[in-house]
Amino acid sequence: MNYKDEYADWAQSYDNFGAITDINEEEKAFLLSIFSKYKVKNALDCACGTGPHLYLLSKLGVDVCGSDFSEAMLKACKENLSQEGISIITKKADFRYLEKVWIEKFDAVLCMTQSIAHLHTHEDLLTAFKSMRERLNNGGILIMTQGTTHLTLQDRFRFDLVVNNQDFSRVFSRDISEGFQTINILDIYHSDKVSKMETNSVHIKIILDDKYKSLLTEAGFSKVNIYGGYDMSPYDKENSWKLIVVAER
Ligand SMILES: C[S@@+](CC[C@H](N)C(=O)[O-])C[C@H]1O[C@@H](n2cnc3c(N)ncnc32)[C@H](O)[C@@H]1O
Repeated sequence: MNYKDEYADWAQSYDNFGAITDINEEEKAFLLSIFSKYKVKNALDCACGTGPHLYLLSKLGVDVCGSDFSEAMLKACKENLSQEGISIITKKADFRYLEKVWIEKFDAVLCMTQSIAHLHTHEDLLTAFKSMRERLNNGGILIMTQGTTHLTLQDRFRFDLVVNNQDFSRVFSRDISEGFQTINILDIYHSDKVSKMETNSVHIKIILDDKYKSLLTEAGFSKVNIYGGYDMSPYDKENSWKLIVVAER
């Protein structure tokens, strides 16, 4: 299936979520613990976006490189990294076909913040998971995170004020239909000097714990761990605000 770049129009404003240097300390502690457990020395972030995890991993001393499908996101990423004086190899790659641009093998492949859900079919997901697994050393791991859980899919969380500061607010409004969610993103600039609104949207597949387990097993992964938070609590349909996958090659 062909996909359009849903970030082309808002890659430059994407980081209104937060600068890549704004490290989430809980996520950092989680990754440190996983990297220590699996002895991760090098990694590929295969949906690097504007580069937050490239930045974080480089600070953690992991030898990291990145790729992404979106040229606009890669451009923003390169600008961000150069601003921080960090040199990391980044390439344009669809994560279904990583072998086309990466011949190296890694101790970890990361696909963070719901990036995998941009694939819409079982076949495409399977192709991507096989390609990611193929890039892993023996004993390597695939890490994925997302904010979509059984809990957050409840209708009462349909609207979410995800950023709100003096000059800028970002609101999500979500429509769910037949296994997909369209996340409408409303950006409101409201400073003394600027008053304007921008809208964007992403259409993503809803993938939850059981689906991850079956797909990743079908793709050849030997063990699939699903956590409900950075504290590594087990995923819980009633209470989890995050869904984190660590799949062992
Ligand atoms: C929600 S953003 C997350 C970016 C980054 N991982 C983060 O945590 O900020 C989703 C990213 O997935 C990328 N993406 C979507 N489909 C892709 C594909 N088939 N191959 C590689 N990257 C893809 C998008 O271009 C975008 O940069």
